[in-house]
Amino acid sequence: MPTSVAGTPTLAQIRSRFPSLASGFAYLENAGGSQVPAFVAHGIRDYMLTSYVQLGAGYPQSDVATDTVARAHAFVNRIMGGEATGHVILGPSTTQLLTMLVGCYSRELKPGDRILVAETGHEANIGPWFALERFGVKVEVWPVDPESLTCRIDTLQALLEGGQVKIVALPHVSNLLGGIVDVAAITRAVHDAGARVVVDGVAYAPHRPIDVAAWNVDWYVYSTYKVYGPHMGALYGRADAVEELTGPNHFFVPRNLIPYKFQLGGACHEGCAGLLSLGPYLNFLAGAGENGQTTREMVVRAFLAMADLELPLQKLLIDYLRERRGLKVIGPQHGERSRVTTISFLASKRRSSELATALNRHGLGVRSGSAYAYRLCQKLGIDPEEGVVRASMVHYNMLDEVRRLIEALETELPN
Ligand SMILES: Cc1ncc(COP(=O)(O)O)c(C=O)c1O
Repeated sequence: MPTSVAGTPTLAQIRSRFPSLASGFAYLENAGGSQVPAFVAHGIRDYMLTSYVQLGAGYPQSDVATDTVARAHAFVNRIMGGEATGHVILGPSTTQLLTMLVGCYSRELKPGDRILVAETGHEANIGPWFALERFGVKVEVWPVDPESLTCRIDTLQALLEGGQVKIVALPHVSNLLGGIVDVAAITRAVHDAGARVVVDGVAYAPHRPIDVAAWNVDWYVYSTYKVYGPHMGALYGRADAVEELTGPNHFFVPRNLIPYKFQLGGACHEGCAGLLSLGPYLNFLAGAGENGQTTREMVVRAFLAMADLELPLQKLLIDYLRERRGLKVIGPQHGERSRVTTISFLASKRRSSELATALNRHGLGVRSGSAYAYRLCQKLGIDPEEGVVRASMVHYNMLDEVRRLIEALETELPN
């Protein structure tokens, strides 16, 4: 895969596609949720005003609705790189999709089976697995190494050697730490032990191309509202993993009706229209004009362009935080490509909540807390209720916004 892209539009052109950015407020809480290009909002509006009817009824508006929902699944699968290998299930959020998946596995797993959950995870990919303990399943934490702030692969291998592991649940990127994990290597180790991986890609997906086929993951999930789209979640399942499970839908929904067997009540139809409307934006970012098919190549080019745009932002902020007395980065201490622009830090002399509120008063949208990496905070000795201050940029952010954050920190912090 190439690592960078020529022909990317300018930042001013990019920002002009996002009406909300014109307000001057610095949106620096993108790991919580991103802004949407106007294409997406217009796509939802147009759908609701022209074809807001139920699927499969046979009249023209219903045909449009049916086609929209089907194309949205295919498009998200293309974004994930899984069109040839698996299926996409859409739902209201990552948390709901993972909880649904755990429910499916509750029918399959036996007492004594083991599940490993990475301690770096968001609670959405930890807590639901612990619920399986009531069936006699053993859920164990794959602990974070406090030195490297990673869940080490040698620790995983030792845990796998104990046998009976059926599932390993992990984040691709911790939404608190920001470092990118080698999902392909972990997946190989997990598959060698005869288990499946469930990867939470939420904190990775806004920043880099997803490639579920290359990584050979069984399950991969992300939240579309953090990737410039509507408030939904998308779960990819490799074909064999998807087929072996019974979904939670009604008894008369055939087992081979994928993804519907997993989609209680179906997917959000207008949300599907919004997802599809991301296509022109990705084409534009890929330097290919807005019209035309959003091929897999366009998707990859668009996300590589995002990665290029983010790099200077993270370098600037990390360099400042690393050098500034009284501030400490929690996560990788560098601004290289092996991390994303989700940057957490602690101030030695100010509570995170106080500092975040003070920064908000400067028109900077950062926030404090555990970011639901609750257990990770506990492990690192950080009060999860206070947590860290997190600034999370994406490709549309400006160096000027990061400079404003640095200036505000200089104003708010004692020397
Ligand atoms: C890494 C990670 N996983 C899971 C989630 C939960 O996503 P959702 O809000 O779609 O349930 C989040 C949300 O912040 C997240 O950052």
